[in-house]
Amino acid sequence: MTTPEPNLLPAWQALQAHHAGVAPLHLRDLFADDQQRFNRFSLEACGLFLDYSKNRITGETMGLLADLARQSQVEAWRDRMYAGDMVNGSERRAALHVALRRPAGSPFPAPGLDVMPEVEAARRRMRDISESLRRGEWLGHSGKAITSVVHIGIGGSHLGPEMASLALGSAAASVPSLHFVSSVDAANLTGALDGLHGETTLFIVASKSFSTAETMANAASARSWLLERGAVPAEAVARHFLAITANVAAAGDFGIPEANVLPLWDWVGGRFSLCSAVGLPVAIAAGMDVFDELLAGAHEMDAHFLDAPLLENMPVVLALMGIWYRNFFAAASRAVLPYDYALRGLPAYLQQLEMESAGKHVGRDGEALDFATCPVVWGASGDDGQHSFFQLLHQGSELVPCDFLVSARGASGLAQHDDALLANGLAQAEALMKGRDADETRAHLESKGLDQAALQSLLPHCTFAGNQPSNTLLYDCLTPRRLGALIALYEHRLFVQSVCWGVNAFDQWGVELGKELARSILRSLGDGTSGNHDGSTAGLLARARRLKSNC
Ligand code: F6P
Repeated sequence: MTTPEPNLLPAWQALQAHHAGVAPLHLRDLFADDQQRFNRFSLEACGLFLDYSKNRITGETMGLLADLARQSQVEAWRDRMYAGDMVNGSERRAALHVALRRPAGSPFPAPGLDVMPEVEAARRRMRDISESLRRGEWLGHSGKAITSVVHIGIGGSHLGPEMASLALGSAAASVPSLHFVSSVDAANLTGALDGLHGETTLFIVASKSFSTAETMANAASARSWLLERGAVPAEAVARHFLAITANVAAAGDFGIPEANVLPLWDWVGGRFSLCSAVGLPVAIAAGMDVFDELLAGAHEMDAHFLDAPLLENMPVVLALMGIWYRNFFAAASRAVLPYDYALRGLPAYLQQLEMESAGKHVGRDGEALDFATCPVVWGASGDDGQHSFFQLLHQGSELVPCDFLVSARGASGLAQHDDALLANGLAQAEALMKGRDADETRAHLESKGLDQAALQSLLPHCTFAGNQPSNTLLYDCLTPRRLGALIALYEHRLFVQSVCWGVNAFDQWGVELGKELARSILRSLGDGTSGNHDGSTAGLLARARRLKSNC
């Protein structure tokens, strides 16, 4: 399917011209001029309410952005993805994460590509394993029940399961207890193993490739730890290791029998794999019924993305807001701010999802792009962020579009806390949008009894320009369904953006060079040679060697 160059499309050019008229407008005035703005620029789907009225848009902006989506063939690409076509061109693969959450018994619509029997079989195994662990029926080599599970994986094999386990099951309090190890820094593994017992610990090695250096090093050290604690080799791996991988042979070479391997497939990208067996920690922490609910929520959003017209389609609207700021306002970053402590892992999860997928400067056809693609994605739990980086959002020199995720009711049952959090989330979005102009600030300072000299000197410091755009996603409370819908929402948002930019969202060649160089430096560390490195790297390597010998 050929797609014209994005920035040569008529809609792109029309947006460029339109931007000049919209850029000077202030959101305050847009609200004052249109009492219906909130109703016009909000929509609801899958239990999520999206208010996008605090964006620097007009009705005409939305019309032009919808034209851009149409001219970029967003709907055709979406349909190709859902049909199992080879949308990942550079790796010659489909991207069928939507199949992972199809309800049981619904055959995949693409003829000759029915992946559902395998998907359903994997779900049944997840249920058996998680229930056996939760009931204390999975026994270690000495006959004692497993009480601790250590999940070893990195990137897409780590961020999703950790984020969702934090959101849905209190990992520390779950039975068995759940621990995550991703970094090759031994402090991560030794910290996780501290206080655990070999006889009662199960390791999950999640790695699509089963060759990722960090994961392999951690898995090998975990196996040694187990053997040092008295397990006999054959039983150690058979009773204490599970693998989640597409590389059954490599898991076998490690010693994990096929019976302990849960599948992954080449049509699931690592960062899109949370709804596969990679989500096993969620089922262990919160139960398989909860995981099934998460799948149901994601499927609901998949159906919405497939069916809703462009401007009533939540992933499409969010994606278009992203394009608007990135390509026409030159916003270099965007912030994700959950006012829901359960979602504190979401910013890191979205960083990989978006930056690994769309952090590219060549299009699908290998041609260099002469416009910006993925912005830097960052963020943190909202009220924690308020007391650190929000200063820059309110008074810095950058335009930073924000996503506020706000839960109307928390899980704690402490109503005062829920209200305080909700009030903070809504207040920050309002403050960023409205700001406080010089007259209002003067009145505010006068009300504090300041003399004129003090007032004049403080005035510029206490004035807020406002006009910082944001989306607010509001929901009742973070149920497994809502989380599933949010995950699929952001996956599809990213996909729509990648289509508008003309990049392949499903490969990640940019991670390879660093891995190759790390292997070469590791060799140099081992054999004492200097290797073929630049002056800086060679100098650092030599100094690190000296420092190591001093320790
Ligand atoms: O190096 C990047 C990456 O390949 C990610 O795309 C992936 O999520 C992560 O490493 C882990 O890969 P694997 O699941 O194969 O260990």
